[in-house]
Amino acid sequence: MNIKGQSFLKLLDFTPKQIGEFIDLAAQLKAKKKGGELVDVLKGKNIAIIFEKTSTRTRCSFEVAAHDLGMGVTYLDPTGSQIGKKESIKDTARVLGRMFDGIEYRGFEQEIVEQLSEYAGVPVWNGLTNEFHPTQILADFLTLKEKFGKLEGLKFVYMGDARYNMGNSLMVGCAKMGMHFVACAPKKYWPAKELIDECQAVAKETGAILEFIEDPMVATKDANAIYTDVWVSMGEPDEVWEERINDLLPYRVTMDLINNADKDVVFMHCLPAFHDLDTKIGKQIYEKFGLTEMEVTDEVFESEHSVVFDEAENRMHTIKAVMAATLGAEF
Ligand code: CP
Ligand code: NVA
Repeated sequence: MNIKGQSFLKLLDFTPKQIGEFIDLAAQLKAKKKGGELVDVLKGKNIAIIFEKTSTRTRCSFEVAAHDLGMGVTYLDPTGSQIGKKESIKDTARVLGRMFDGIEYRGFEQEIVEQLSEYAGVPVWNGLTNEFHPTQILADFLTLKEKFGKLEGLKFVYMGDARYNMGNSLMVGCAKMGMHFVACAPKKYWPAKELIDECQAVAKETGAILEFIEDPMVATKDANAIYTDVWVSMGEPDEVWEERINDLLPYRVTMDLINNADKDVVFMHCLPAFHDLDTKIGKQIYEKFGLTEMEVTDEVFESEHSVVFDEAENRMHTIKAVMAATLGAEF
């Protein structure tokens, strides 16, 4: 891939060929890792990873991938930097760009990561914004390729709030890769019209199909993959829970939906998932609303259809591919 020096901010910035190359490179790096082969070809480089929201998978993926590539990592936590509070994004970008070879950012508006990239002078990687979560999609698509051997033509159904980072980026990814994307939710949770229009234009080129359906049984018929995400995302106020539960309860992924899909359907989730009462927030929600599971039942989450931990593992391999390609690593 010849994208040395480029940032990775959203999938809309990349061609289907480039997205395919990221996934193929990740598969190669995964095979090398499993075979015990060292890939520390970026020795001497350093990266900064900025998290204005919490993380388990993304942070660990960047750190492990950087170490595997031979790089040093500096973690800036939600409270530990001046970014956006005492110092502007533009100044932060210019400071970090003088010290580091690449910068990861997880936080709020997409505008922030775009601005970091504009001023840093080194590649910037989007580790999740309100609008997009592009490294997650690469991991999801590597997982699908491992299961089905292809992406093109797969029927991919996203259940739940499709207006936010996961719904948006999955729609873009499916459009780019010629897939059949279905967003299944009440109309008010469908992606913004401008983004749908942009994706429809992409779909015209790639042969993708994009559909928006309110009825879960219609949407999931013969699906190859059913995906969902939390109903309330990081940074949203607790007050929205009640409305989300009322609106989205009929869109919970249940065994009825799995049985309505193709017999080899996979269940996917970016995680963290709310499928039992084993978390502090889960228990609080139970006390307030009496629900023990939210966007997916525990039965589906733990079923043989579930590939959620493959997706989680693939975060590391795909993030490694993104850093390697944009930092010009040669293997
Ligand atoms: N899927 C994902 O981004 O997980 P984290 O929030 O733990 O990074
Ligand atoms: N939509 C979720 C995704 C977490 C990976 C959030 O933004 O919190």
